[in-house]
Amino acid sequence: MRIDIITLFPELLQSPFEASIVKRAIDSGIAEIHFHNLRDYSKSKYKQVDDYPFGGGAGMVMMIEPIDKCISALKAARSYDEVIYMTPDGETLNQGIANQCSLYENIILLCGHYKGVDQRVRDHFITREISIGDFVLSGGELAAAVFCDSIIRLIPGVLGDESSALSDSYQDNLLAPPIYTRPADYKGWKVPDILTSGNTPAVEQWREDKAFERTQKLRPDLLGE
Ligand code: ADE
Repeated sequence: MRIDIITLFPELLQSPFEASIVKRAIDSGIAEIHFHNLRDYSKSKYKQVDDYPFGGGAGMVMMIEPIDKCISALKAARSYDEVIYMTPDGETLNQGIANQCSLYENIILLCGHYKGVDQRVRDHFITREISIGDFVLSGGELAAAVFCDSIIRLIPGVLGDESSALSDSYQDNLLAPPIYTRPADYKGWKVPDILTSGNTPAVEQWREDKAFERTQKLRPDLLGE
């Protein structure tokens, strides 16, 4: 998978790609991330990328021309599955969307700033709009990092244990069951006996029951009617 990220602040997007599972995916060539600084596509002397909104009002609007230049240059080199705009008014990211997007080959992510982008960018270039939740960040960069992490870890071969993404919370619309590791007794706080019993089918049943119980208690909305 190749991800091209268009941003005004590439420095906000460094560390999420430099550690852990995402780094491993990049190092092994399974994922490729390319950053594009929108200012490099501004034709003005002062590298202007935003301007006042027509009709007045607070805040600045990201201009269409640098975005067009950047997206068009990328599209001239390869075809893209989606051009995604990270915005608080997009569809809310969930595990289903992450699963679906993890199948893409090439995507462009546009990170918004200020009041957002000129509507014509959305009308003519953007094919999908994604929010990471009902709150407003200073820009789309952190949202893009969250989105990238959620999809990269799902690409086959990225997680060592192939089954481990399948047992995540939200796959199956269930929260994950509680997990424990050594010691089995810490200050008298004991691990449930079943987990040290060696009875694998019983452990599996216990995990299913706990996953259901936790979901019912914490996120009954996931269980539907
Ligand atoms: N940009 C600003 N806030 C955002 C959010 N919640 N999700 C995606 N992009 C954003």
